[in-house]
Amino acid sequence: MKMKRPSGLCRSAFKPIILVAIGFCILYTVKLNSDSGRCDMARIHYVNTEYAKKAQKFAQHVLQAECRPSFVKKEMSRLFMQKYSMNVPPFTSKHINAQQGAFKYEPPFGFHKFSEKLRDLLELLPEYDFPESLQSAPCKRCVVVGSGGILRGLELGHALNQFDVVIRLNNAPVQGYTDDVGNRTTLRLTYPEGAPLSHREYFPQGLFVTVLFKSADFDWIQAMVKNETLSLWMRLFFWKQVAEKIPVLPKQFRILNPVIIKETALDILEYPEPRSKIWGWDKNVPTIGAIAVVMATHLCDEVSLAGFGYNLSQPSARLHYFDRLCMASMNRQTMHNVTTETKFLQRLIKEGVVRDLSGGIHCDFCSKKARD
Ligand SMILES: *[C@@H]1O[C@H](CO)[C@@H](O)[C@H](O)[C@H]1NC(C)=O
Ligand SMILES: *[C@@H]1O[C@H](CO)[C@@H](O)[C@H](O)[C@H]1NC(C)=O
Ligand SMILES: *[C@@H]1O[C@H](CO)[C@@H](O)[C@H](O)[C@H]1NC(C)=O
Ligand SMILES: *[C@@H]1O[C@H](CO)[C@@H](O)[C@H](O)[C@H]1NC(C)=O
Repeated sequence: MKMKRPSGLCRSAFKPIILVAIGFCILYTVKLNSDSGRCDMARIHYVNTEYAKKAQKFAQHVLQAECRPSFVKKEMSRLFMQKYSMNVPPFTSKHINAQQGAFKYEPPFGFHKFSEKLRDLLELLPEYDFPESLQSAPCKRCVVVGSGGILRGLELGHALNQFDVVIRLNNAPVQGYTDDVGNRTTLRLTYPEGAPLSHREYFPQGLFVTVLFKSADFDWIQAMVKNETLSLWMRLFFWKQVAEKIPVLPKQFRILNPVIIKETALDILEYPEPRSKIWGWDKNVPTIGAIAVVMATHLCDEVSLAGFGYNLSQPSARLHYFDRLCMASMNRQTMHNVTTETKFLQRLIKEGVVRDLSGGIHCDFCSKKARD
């Protein structure tokens, strides 16, 4: 019973280095048991169709309004003043050496101690902007699609498809959920362990943007860009099975500018400065969702969110739209400060800086008086 989900890591690592592999298998099994926060599907509540209709109407209302160039950057500057920089390039390019602060911290907040690995990696990347067609658009409306269970049954897919840029996170799938989450992916932001394993989640035009946390992440992304296989030895440096191939062309890969993570964590969320540690992180790494929202403010003119918000007062609600985990399992994670992030997102929505299309952070369309 305990070994009911044998991992790819366990199986593939067995022959070369049995001892290490057994150690990892034990660790991995402990991890699996500790997050078996599966929902009792019989008790889960289903979507209220009234709510779904209001959400769809609100999304159409957002899409029909005129797009305001540079709106979100100006608003972020208004709220956060000098803590937010208007001119941070979203992706890492060869010009990063000239960028202030990019080498002050170690990953994920900067490239301190990684300039050589970074240089080798950037040699492989032919592009570091949006593709030309988007770059030249006068006003870009973006939606960041989170993984929240709140998306399930809202049928926002049609509305989400109409945004200029659809940003997805980690392994959140499209296949099988298109009614709720749409079928376009302009950009997927992920760390190596989060990258979808299924080839069907990668699209010919989509950008694959990675966040680099550790040395092995540089080796993995290099192998992926070169379409090579990562050695079994290197695979042991990941806490879960990583994708063996990312089926996109080199021109579709990007590296997130770490200054955006630093800005999110240290300036906007006011998390403590990183200290050097032998193992693990201080609790100051934002979720990929919070990072993506700040990235979107640098990339886009207007930003909407969908599938954000973990309502911890509903322990038996779905955590994600695509699996069977329950909200209750969120209480057991210790990596991120969900309370601080929720307050930040609430502020953005209440101030009108970004829109919340599914209403999980702050619902603008729920009140009786909501506009038609
Ligand atoms: C998304 O779905 C629409 C309608 O079903 C289809 O026309 C379109 O080609 C799909 N786009 C992608 C990227 O799969
Ligand atoms: C990557 O390599 C495989 C063979 O290992 C090949 O079939 C595939 O077309 C290559 N992909 C790209 C994008 O070059
Ligand atoms: C969270 O759930 C509680 C209990 O169902 C509800 O009263 C509250 O409005 C929810 N909060 C949000 C932000 O949706
Ligand atoms: C999250 O951060 C707030 C301060 O912003 C702090 O009061 C709270 O204790 C933190 N929560 C956890 C679980 O660390």
